Formats: sequence, C-alpha cells, structure tokens
Amino acid sequence: MGFNVKNNIYWVGKIDWELRKFHGSEYSTHRGSTYNSYLIREEKTALVDTVWKPFSKEYLEGLSREIDLRKIDYIIANHAEIDHSGALPELMDLVPDKPVYCTSNGIKSLKGHYHRDWNFVPVKTGDRLSLGSKELVFIEAPMLHWPDSMFCYLSGDNVLFSNDAFGQHYASEYMYNDLVDRDELFTECIKYYANILTPFSALVGRKIKEFASLNLPLDIICTSHGVIWRDNPMQIVEKYLEWSSGYKENQITIIYDTMWNGTRIMAEGIAEGIKRVDRSVNIKLYNVSGTDKNDIITEVFKSKGILVGSPTINKGVLSSVAGILDQIRGLGFKGKKAAAFGCYGWSGESVRIITEHLKSSGFEVADEGLSALWNPDEKSINECVSYGQKIAGVMA
Ligand code: FEO
Repeated sequence: MGFNVKNNIYWVGKIDWELRKFHGSEYSTHRGSTYNSYLIREEKTALVDTVWKPFSKEYLEGLSREIDLRKIDYIIANHAEIDHSGALPELMDLVPDKPVYCTSNGIKSLKGHYHRDWNFVPVKTGDRLSLGSKELVFIEAPMLHWPDSMFCYLSGDNVLFSNDAFGQHYASEYMYNDLVDRDELFTECIKYYANILTPFSALVGRKIKEFASLNLPLDIICTSHGVIWRDNPMQIVEKYLEWSSGYKENQITIIYDTMWNGTRIMAEGIAEGIKRVDRSVNIKLYNVSGTDKNDIITEVFKSKGILVGSPTINKGVLSSVAGILDQIRGLGFKGKKAAAFGCYGWSGESVRIITEHLKSSGFEVADEGLSALWNPDEKSINECVSYGQKIAGVMA
C-alpha cells in the first residue's frame, strides 16, 4: 500500500522482506530491502523510478489503484539498473507514448536492458521540468551508482530523490529514519556504502559539495532503497562526507581461513599481541569460510589496518582467501595498512602472495609478513604474539 510522504508526494514502491541476495549473490541482504517509487501529483504528475522486475505486476496493480496510469504525464528514470527500472517495460506497454526523462547514459542503459525505443527525453544537471507551481531539477550523479545515475529535486517541497545514494538494503514497515531502529539503520547504511560506493568515494564527496553549492533547501531525502530521511536528513549526508574521506576507526581486522587450525592459532596469537600493546584498539577476527563476505568488507572499511592469513596450498592460498582478496582489490580502499600471515608445511608461498596482493590493492604493507612451519608450537605462538605487538605499533 502506498503512503503520503509530503503534500502531493506519494510512496508507491515495494517492501521486499524476503530478499537475501542482491546483485546476484554479490551482496547479502540480511534485512531485506525496498524499491522506492514515488508519485508526484501536482498540476502535472510525475512518477519517479519503478521497482525490481519480479514485482512489476503487483506494482502496476497498486499504482493503478492510486491513479489512472494515463494521467501520469512524466516518467523519471533516475537510474537504469533493474531494481529501479524493472517495471518500466510493463508500464510502457500500457502508456507507450509517455516521456521518459533520464540522462543520456540512462537511455543507453535502458535500451541495453530492454531493447525498446521509448519516448526518451535526455536531461543533464540544471535542467528543469515544470509540474505547475513546482518543478523538478535534475542533477546528474554518475557512478552513484552507475554512469547513468541522477538525482532529481522537487522545488517548493524541498525533497531530493537520490536513488541509490543515501539508501540501504533495509526492509521496514515504517519507512522513515525516525521510526526505525537507529543501530540497525546505520549498520545497513555503512554496509551499503562500504560494499557499493567505496570505489567512487572521490565522486561522492564532489557530488555532495556540488549539491551544497546549489543552495537548495533540503527537508527530505527520498532514497530508492530503505528509509526516507525526514528527521535531520543532513545526518546521512554528513556520514557520506565522513565515509568518503579515507574513513577509518581504531580497529584492526584479522581475516583468515585455515585447513588444520594452524593459521587460526596464528591469528589468535597475533590478536593477543596487539591487545597486549594497545587495549584501546578494536580487534576483530573473521574466518572467511564461515563469515558473510559483505560483513567482512564492512569491517575492512572500518579498519585502520588488516591482517590476512592463509596456509599455503598448491603453491597458493586457499580459494576463500583469494576470493575476499579479489573483492577487496575491486573496492580500492585507501589509507589503510596491511600485513599477511600463514602456516605451511613445505613450499610456503602464501604470505608472499597475500602481501603482493595487498600491495597491488592499494594497502600500505606494514610488514613483510609472518610464516609458521607446520602447526604452531609454543615457540611459534610466542612469535605470533610478538608479531602482534609489532603490528600494533606499526598500525598505530
Ligand atoms: Fe539500486 Fe544501482 O541500483
């Protein structure tokens, strides 16, 4: 069921409590998600975004209960990704002549997805669309989260429709930031930023400053995932500024996998050493094979330094560790320190391989790494503790 957001703005999207995987299986959604679509009923009527394709039918049934679809004057596609544009083909089958406003990259993406030639109207930053006494202002936002992404802003109501930016994969029946559990909300916000927006942090900072320079009053941010920010919407904007500026907490995260517990024992020894030197640092250990990879990425995002451990197998590292290292590389973390560790029985390449990977992923390698032959004995464990003490110093 839709609800009124402000004056003539209505939420007409879909709350998806069942979603557990997004982007294929690239992103875990422990708390579901929402696909937010908005209907603006001024003298002219505009529809901002739609929903993910599996919900097209029920979305259009719901929308038809709100309005005769022929009375929609403008369709705004802030972003072409399927979670927002998925219902467009069925909608356009019903109203084939209605104009679809999007960026020029949006036209390419929508044509690429659906192979249809709708009545596209390309817009760029600063373009305006009159809805009567109020108007929509378009603001391109490339790479937040795809090249085609844009925001639009409704004058008079001071509402920003930000699409992916400032969103979260978070299902709630209450849909406003002041009506949900704040810890849960910000847990999902930082996970979303860490896993999706980290590579584009420079653009995030620039876009926020550009928006601020327009001096548009801001009362509400209507995202396309999760809650609507109506209580102090600037709080999430300020968080984005913080997260986009080399964010780190006083945390060291130890990520590893282990075959016969040797590398786990090393991880625990290193943690003990860090703790002996600096009890203020938050130390977290994750066995990659049993931990959600997006949760690990969030912890890496929060860390000032990471240690990555794997035993040597077939002159390489365990595939679970290789997988998380690849994911870390793709996100392009900046300003973080790292080191490697791992046990081995004969050839012992894992520490060198991990170290090289971390270096090429943009980490400052804090040390050449620590190896242990066979399962760590008491002497070896003491070396791990000493290594942790050293790491606490170099990552301070
Ligand atoms: Fe929520 Fe980039 O789509």
